Amino acid sequence: MNPIIEAQLKHRSIRKFTDQSVDDGLLVDLIQAAQGAASSSFIQAYSLVQVTDTENRSKIATLAGGQTWVEKAPTFLVICADLSRIEHCCVQEGMGELEGYAEHFLAASVDAALLAQNLMLGAESVGLGAVFIGGIRNDPQQVSDLLNLPDQVYPVFGLCLGWPDAEPDLKPRLPVDVILHKDTYDASRCATDVANYDEQMQAYYASRGSNQRNSTWSAQTAVAVQQKKREHLKDFLQSKGFLKC
Ligand SMILES: Cc1cc2nc3c(=O)[nH]c(=O)nc-3n(C[C@H](O)[C@H](O)[C@H](O)COP(=O)(O)O)c2cc1C
Repeated sequence: MNPIIEAQLKHRSIRKFTDQSVDDGLLVDLIQAAQGAASSSFIQAYSLVQVTDTENRSKIATLAGGQTWVEKAPTFLVICADLSRIEHCCVQEGMGELEGYAEHFLAASVDAALLAQNLMLGAESVGLGAVFIGGIRNDPQQVSDLLNLPDQVYPVFGLCLGWPDAEPDLKPRLPVDVILHKDTYDASRCATDVANYDEQMQAYYASRGSNQRNSTWSAQTAVAVQQKKREHLKDFLQSKGFLKC
């Protein structure tokens, strides 16, 4: 094992932090390291907004469904997919504004997610704890207004950062042989794979240190995706210039 793989294997989302702040210099170093992530056509289509204003932080915590850790985390960043610089380049080079192609939306979203995961891993490697906050997509328009996000920029998810004040159990992931297919995708094993994993996760949910429950991964995820359709997203993204064609 090397330290990077150890940090990857130790990941758990942290939602409780000590009062100790995250040093500004450390944050800049971590962001710079995270920028080492690969970037589609090198567009670097991301921006981060650090929300230090306590009133805005509290509003965002409420919009995210009352997630107290958004308010209490020493550092909170909103990870944005940002094509505004690319649009500027296109206009400058005489090619006009972006048309809103799905491909560009996907490239920017992937860029932002790669940067964010690199940032989380780097943070965890120095002992910080973190959790992503997709809950900000409950009301992306209000979040965008609070942060003054221009067209061609949308908030993908938030990131709480701080020194951990909890050590939750590790959540067992799907076994590698479930997610790794050889040469072609084998759809025939889906039902068995899920049933086996459900058994493992049921034991995990029943025995973990906190928030114990009698449930399966199937039940949890089926409910989660039903609850989080966020039907406003398509219109919101189109209003920001994304996903028009
Ligand atoms: C894009 C994304 C959005 C997430 N949004 C939230 C969120 O709004 N609130 C939260 O508490 N956790 C959120 N999470 C954390 C997941 O719940 C967590 O990663 C998952 O349950 C696995 O647990 P672990 O990270 O502790 O291993 C999010 C994770 C991702 C990748």
